[in-house]
Amino acid sequence: MSTMLTQLSFANLAGMETELLAVLAADTQTSKAPDARPLPVLLTADDAVKAAAAAVLASGEYKAGANETLLLHVPAGLAARRLLIVGLGKQAKATVHSVRNAAGTAVRYAKPRTIRELAFALPEPELLLPAACVRAAVEGAFVGDFDPDTYRSDRKDQSIQSFTVAAPPVSDQAALQAAFAEGVLIGESQNFTRSLVNEPGNKLTPTILGQRAAAMAAEVGLKCEVYSTEKLHELKMGAFWSVSQGSEEPPALIVMHYEPEGVTDGPVLGLVGKGITFDSGGISLKPGLDMEKMKYDMAGAAAMIGAMRAIALAKPRVRVLCVVCAAENMPDGKAQKPGDVQIAMSGKSIEIINTDAEGRLVLADGLTYARQLGATHLIDAATLTGACVVALGMINAGVFSNDDATYAKFDAALATSGEKFWRLPLGDEYAEMIKSEIGDIKNTGGRWGGASTAAEFLKVFAEDTPWIHLDIAGVAWVEDSRPYIAKGPSGIAVRSILEWVKNY
Ligand code: BES
Ligand code: MN
Ligand code: ZN
Repeated sequence: MSTMLTQLSFANLAGMETELLAVLAADTQTSKAPDARPLPVLLTADDAVKAAAAAVLASGEYKAGANETLLLHVPAGLAARRLLIVGLGKQAKATVHSVRNAAGTAVRYAKPRTIRELAFALPEPELLLPAACVRAAVEGAFVGDFDPDTYRSDRKDQSIQSFTVAAPPVSDQAALQAAFAEGVLIGESQNFTRSLVNEPGNKLTPTILGQRAAAMAAEVGLKCEVYSTEKLHELKMGAFWSVSQGSEEPPALIVMHYEPEGVTDGPVLGLVGKGITFDSGGISLKPGLDMEKMKYDMAGAAAMIGAMRAIALAKPRVRVLCVVCAAENMPDGKAQKPGDVQIAMSGKSIEIINTDAEGRLVLADGLTYARQLGATHLIDAATLTGACVVALGMINAGVFSNDDATYAKFDAALATSGEKFWRLPLGDEYAEMIKSEIGDIKNTGGRWGGASTAAEFLKVFAEDTPWIHLDIAGVAWVEDSRPYIAKGPSGIAVRSILEWVKNY
């Protein structure tokens, strides 16, 4: 994991001795007239910084578009060796989420240019809440620092060694320090998730995922148990086992507990993750095209493990447990077949129509087990359906819920996390589509509405427990690099799950 050192400074910007000082700019043009030119302004009160950038801002060459960068060497009147201007786009639309991305952009600007240390100046307190900006900037810096290049032997480690957040001199510095510390733990946890998702199937089997979770848990003081085949049989996890049975790799059932001292009543939040370390489709084998991507079919599990790390460090006053169901989905003489009937831990019988609809099978038993362990509220994350990707593209992840009050707490979390989720429907008509003539339910619902029928399947196992389901298939892997994030694993859902937990 990244070893980036971070610090919070209230020092005067002009006097900052740094390799690179990044400052924000926004476009203040409000006219929509066709000849209206961008009116970029620097979002700082520092007169020396403004003076250093005055000429280039007046030139019209720089428009302060979102994540648009401009570099000045030896800026006049500043102790910094370089001044990097990073755009937020239209000032009226700028949010802390644009600040998060701008910090990532500054880091990713520095990395390939062998700059190892930088300072990032926050906007003035009147524009955006300083505490929220501090946190977002640190998160964005960690996100920007991550590159999935660990298996390249020509890898040049371009990680940033030191990142300083330069905050305006506000009166409540303690609040900013707290926000800063939270940003660090969130950014590190999101990158921990990304490092797990990046691992190929041969390097991260269910067993190894269990070891990685246990090592993390030991580090942050979480209780963690990792079980395998025997425990699945003991718990009668027929749905989970049916996916695992076709693989030489044993499954891993990972259970973690976060129990804050003195909290003995109130809700118990149950986090459940889909951990398919490779999804070949099984006997209903996937086509070869893009099959290598199915190493990321454990992104839901990784999100939950990263969220547990963040929770252990952020220490909210609520009990949380986590159940990860990890398996490989492989074709084999012992693999399950279409037409097979499996008895889930809950006792429900499932007719297998397609062995490639395996995520819902492992989650079914994970949800049942989390309830048995005492979860009063459930949230699951899974790269569950291609249908969700068709519906929402790679922009929004899907979210489903059987309870509006529980969903409201998740929706509130999104405002802080800045992650994009879109609520999709459940309903009796969808439930109808997964009724089986052979058993209680079948594991696919036909061609249409695949994200909703998959969610209806999970809902059967959430039973009457308030539950949220996150379908992150389209957004767990970034297909094209952006100025603030590398191509590869995104770490989606870690931030939102932490915020949701904090809302209890
Ligand atoms: N892991 C896949 C879903 C997926 C698709 C994740 C694309 C990431 C990107 C899941 O196990 C799967 O194969 N789902 C099938 C279900 C179908 C057989 C009902 C799908 O979506 O095609
Ligand atoms: Mn599948
Ligand atoms: Zn899958």
